[in-house]
Amino acid sequence: MRALVVSDLHSNAEALRAVVHHVRRKKFDHIVCLGDFVGYGAQPNQVLDVMRTYRATKLYIRGNHDRVAAGIEDGEGFNHAAKYAALWTREHLSAPNRRFLAGLAHGPMANDGVMLCHGSPHDEDEYVFNEHHARTVFELHSAPLILYGHTHLPVIFSCDRDGRVRGFSVRGEAIVKLDPNLRYLINPGSVGQPRDRNPQSSFAIVDSTKRTVQFFRVGYDVEKTRASIIAAGLPRVLADRLRHGT
Ligand SMILES: [Fe+2]
Repeated sequence: MRALVVSDLHSNAEALRAVVHHVRRKKFDHIVCLGDFVGYGAQPNQVLDVMRTYRATKLYIRGNHDRVAAGIEDGEGFNHAAKYAALWTREHLSAPNRRFLAGLAHGPMANDGVMLCHGSPHDEDEYVFNEHHARTVFELHSAPLILYGHTHLPVIFSCDRDGRVRGFSVRGEAIVKLDPNLRYLINPGSVGQPRDRNPQSSFAIVDSTKRTVQFFRVGYDVEKTRASIIAAGLPRVLADRLRHGT
């Protein structure tokens, strides 16, 4: 499979639009979304309308914010701003988008030797930040390639046959050739709320046959997204963090 891989869109339609525009001439047959279509931002319906109607084979799983916005959970454990935005989203979804969100698959999902999850394959709410976390995932799961989101940080972890785990953050754009002797745990970063101090949207194109992963960064109209968040009355911090990529 050759897939456009996005994650953590977080109701940021300007960012998603920039990503879709950037890849319009690139070749891929699947679109993967690793969850958190909504939450934080003020454009849930615009994002979901694009994702529901995207013309590629869709491999979508839900994230923690999607569960709360869909009414599956109540946001216990969320911080104030996250909970406020998730409950606001619940009130503002169109009927088709509410149905779509409630029907999203629970990860993990496997396709063509690639495992997809939001947090980790065994816990959709787990954060995989460092080599210690990654080692646990490699010990519990044997898939050669696992794609995950949730941390909003583009990163690659590899594991060799002796169980040695190495990780590195992806800074900017990069093409990575995957070593057939290694297993990988890869996060494409976040489209709608990057947190690596680079405000540009982060995403990837993964080719599971050629075993390549290409990381992209694209700028979008951050001020337009900020204005939509402020106009909706959502917590100001959710608008301001987008300027700094935090
Ligand atoms: Fe997220």
